[in-house]
Amino acid sequence: MNKVINIILLIVSVAFVGCVQGDKPNKENEVIEKKIEALIRKMTLEEKLGQMNQITSYPNIEDLSNLIKKGEVGSILNEIDPVRINALQRVAMEESRMGIPLMMARDVIHGFKTIFPIPLGQAASFNPDIVEIGARIAAIEASSVGIRWTFAPMIDISRDPRWGRIAEGFGEDTYLTSVMGVASVKGYQGDSLNNPSSIAACAKHFVGYGAVEGGRDYNSTYISERQLRNVFLPPFEAAAKAGSATFMTSFNDNDGVPSTGNSFVLKDVLRKEWGFKGFVVSDWASVSEMISHGFAADAAEAAMKAINAGVDMEMVSGTYFKETPQLIQQYKVKESTIDEAVRDILRIKFMLGLFDNPYVDEKAPCIFYEPSHLAAAKQAAIESVILLKNEKQTLPIKSSVKTVAVVGPMADAPYEQLGTWIFDGEKEHTQTPLVAIKELVGSSVHIIYESGLAYSRDNNTQGIAKAVAAASKADVILAFVGEESILSGEAHCLADLNLQGKQSELLEALSKTGKPLVTVVMAGRPLTIEKEVEQSDAVLYSFHPGTMGGPALAEILWGEAVPSGKTPMTFPKVVGQIPVYYSHNTTGRPANRTEVLLHNIPVEAGQTSLGCTSFYLDAGFDPLYPFGYGLSYTTFHYGAPVLSATELKEKDVLTVEFEIENTGNYDATEVAQLYVQDKVGSVTRPVKELKRFMRVPLKAGEKRTLRFELPISELAFWNVDMKYGVEPGEFNLWVAGDSQSGSSVSFKVVL
Ligand code: GLC
Repeated sequence: MNKVINIILLIVSVAFVGCVQGDKPNKENEVIEKKIEALIRKMTLEEKLGQMNQITSYPNIEDLSNLIKKGEVGSILNEIDPVRINALQRVAMEESRMGIPLMMARDVIHGFKTIFPIPLGQAASFNPDIVEIGARIAAIEASSVGIRWTFAPMIDISRDPRWGRIAEGFGEDTYLTSVMGVASVKGYQGDSLNNPSSIAACAKHFVGYGAVEGGRDYNSTYISERQLRNVFLPPFEAAAKAGSATFMTSFNDNDGVPSTGNSFVLKDVLRKEWGFKGFVVSDWASVSEMISHGFAADAAEAAMKAINAGVDMEMVSGTYFKETPQLIQQYKVKESTIDEAVRDILRIKFMLGLFDNPYVDEKAPCIFYEPSHLAAAKQAAIESVILLKNEKQTLPIKSSVKTVAVVGPMADAPYEQLGTWIFDGEKEHTQTPLVAIKELVGSSVHIIYESGLAYSRDNNTQGIAKAVAAASKADVILAFVGEESILSGEAHCLADLNLQGKQSELLEALSKTGKPLVTVVMAGRPLTIEKEVEQSDAVLYSFHPGTMGGPALAEILWGEAVPSGKTPMTFPKVVGQIPVYYSHNTTGRPANRTEVLLHNIPVEAGQTSLGCTSFYLDAGFDPLYPFGYGLSYTTFHYGAPVLSATELKEKDVLTVEFEIENTGNYDATEVAQLYVQDKVGSVTRPVKELKRFMRVPLKAGEKRTLRFELPISELAFWNVDMKYGVEPGEFNLWVAGDSQSGSSVSFKVVL
């Protein structure tokens, strides 16, 4: 598999080595700063405010052109016609007084035309290389129409699958999200922003959005500064250090302060602590929405609060342009603040090379769906599939299987398979499981297709009988269930995570046929599928796998590829367990997993007879699947980790050697994970935290000795005094195939 990735990386990078100029030497930055100052000196206040104003495109190009000519627009989102883009740029360059190019923006979250798995699926690959390739390909396709800025990566940590936007991020873990966020920034921005195929990244949503109360989108969050700094901020700091050109504020108010008016995160943290030099854009109308938050009395106050908090560009609500002149007259906003914001915006426009090269080549050959793009999308989909169960070696499907029943509403659902946030994806290009299975084995296997239900929410059970009839004639049943794409993504939250419609009834009826049942779930989030797992012989989980999801799943089902995905989020048994995640605190009364559960409680049980620990009478403590979990067609054995030392100082680097063996019959890849526990701290610490991972390809029977390097400085956290540092004491360490397995070794940190 790595060979595929390396070839793709080579193709993708060679294509642009000619234009790649690498990071600008300081001399060039000085030239840019001088050009910025020269522009600022000439610009009127209105022209400065125009640069801070982002509008969404609309059909009337004359109207748009007039605004641009007057210098009232700095960026346009949602325009993807290269002819219109060039026309609008020409107005900006040649007809406006200052001749400042526009930044054309679009949400390219997991592909422009070639759609990759949703980011949550890409996270399941635990492969930052494939994530970087996906972002690079998205940038190549999007920039080919003139888009030079995207609103990605979304790096909101969330532990709540009720939240629809869980689909858009990289899951519950701070370290995994940090690694994937950096890979995305590198992919979008390439080796240099002024490469025409590079697009400015946007680390979003800053910050804490994934902790919305109740998992209900846009809701309030109540995250302490320590939790912000230890859990939610690190991926953004990593993105800033990786050079993300822009940041976007989040819709939520945290502890009463909307992010769009929060100078602590936007100035104190982002600019002063991290030295961020790009610019900050609001989310869609999140400036004016501070009125409905009750944080601003009117548009003028909303504009004042956002500008003074450090939001440089306003997305679509138009208060900056309208209200700021008076705010300056009233000394509520300083023009020097405006100048700072405009500097940050112009700097990115210069770094993108837009002043020298604002136009897109309308005659460039179309590069959408290039074979190398589709190959990368398939590889990403293959690596994102998680094998949750595989009893009686049901998978891979054997050559003795001559008839399969392909059933379920997701077996041939080209639009749904693409997942949320695919503004420009085209279902016509989707290869569904049904199509791919026919292509892969149709010449030797008889395929009977009955969807059983028309779509995931379908309550019409009339089709179930036909599906059962098809199943009865088959050697193996392949049931494709899950979620339509509309059920996840922005504003699409669920209070119940059971399979929608009559999908569960369909699976129950299929399981009653007694035939081997392989259930494949395609969804935008973890679902509560405990019952369906019990009824299935094998279960594959594929977070909306994108354009090439079909071939990926077909190859996995027939063993041409071996599943290696791991859960990027904890799977709850029931929605009532949420929030449930692996890096939880111990509490003073940790569950001991021997608790008496609901149906075993004696009648008239004594008040304290059940023990007083932290668990649910009706759901116990453990989730359905822990973070980092995923099976393979083979098995792996881990040797005990061997530490380079058992007593270390903050400046030391701990080397962790471990043996891993493929003890089964298939060549496969394992994701080895390194977890650490800080046993005692000045504040309570998580029971374990992921600190490293690596994908390890192993031939059947192969044994390798590998190593992780862990600087002790990476065990730092924000302590009781809100200071960042490593505290001395005992630590436990695991190297395992998921967050619950393995035995620990310990080491000490000393001052
Ligand atoms: C949306 C989303 C944000 C997106 C923006 C532009 O409301 O919150 O993630 O980038 O608006 O589409």
